[in-house]
Amino acid sequence: MDYTLEYFRESVDYIRKFVPWEPEIAVVLGSFLGPFADAVEDPIVIDYRDIPNFLVSTVKGHAGKLIFGTVAGRRVVCMSGRFHYYEGYDFEQLVIPIRLFKLLGVSATILTNAAGAVNAAYQPGDVMIVTDHIKLAGASPMRGRNVDAFGPRFFDVTRMYTPELRKLALDCAAGTGLTVHEGVYMFFTGPQYETPAEIRAARILGADAVGMSTVTEALTAAHCGMPLLCLSVMTNMASGVLDTPLTTGEVLETAERIAGPFSDYIIKIIDRMREVAL
Ligand code: HPA
Repeated sequence: MDYTLEYFRESVDYIRKFVPWEPEIAVVLGSFLGPFADAVEDPIVIDYRDIPNFLVSTVKGHAGKLIFGTVAGRRVVCMSGRFHYYEGYDFEQLVIPIRLFKLLGVSATILTNAAGAVNAAYQPGDVMIVTDHIKLAGASPMRGRNVDAFGPRFFDVTRMYTPELRKLALDCAAGTGLTVHEGVYMFFTGPQYETPAEIRAARILGADAVGMSTVTEALTAAHCGMPLLCLSVMTNMASGVLDTPLTTGEVLETAERIAGPFSDYIIKIIDRMREVAL
């Protein structure tokens, strides 16, 4: 399947019936980071199921709604619930949300996720601004015939986590009450959490956090030249860092605890994105 401009035309036409304006910024919310969605003013909510040629969320904690509205005076589209490889989607299908955003007129994307902390100096509840990633698992979302309308066959990823947005996010950390680091995110396919040996290997390779999302979306954004900011919330210490098994309970507990301040942090960043020439 080629995810061409034509593929998305139906999705865009459907959305335009409800949302006659162009969103400037897209925000993709990770597991249980939903309070940001509640902060969207004058929301127009569209169920993924109703959008032609879109995908559906199958994971608990991922609502499955596109929310259009205003945050800090900026027009946003917020994806409450994302798609993961472990749900059974092919890497190639995971280009869909970002390409749709691009055609809707979005000029910058903020990706968020829940992640396990590999860096022993991090703590659950800390935030990491992603500076780079490691993806050794699986294929590229851009595998297959290139869609030139979105970007070139071979593309540079040295600045894919936009330096100006990373700097802005770091500047915005002061006063939020959050501990904010900069680090490298390593992608694992899941749905099993990693083994302790995988986490030791990840650390040796230079990873500070691990997770099961984001990288496919980030690469799709890089391919179409979309400025990008990625923020990871450390919901737990990664496997083997502590002497206790990982539980989804602790992941969700931390995500819920941090969701309020994290949402305020994203709103502050969106407000101050006006200062950044992209
Ligand atoms: N590993 C992978 N994904 C995750 C983790 C983890 O430890 N925590 C939250 N998402």
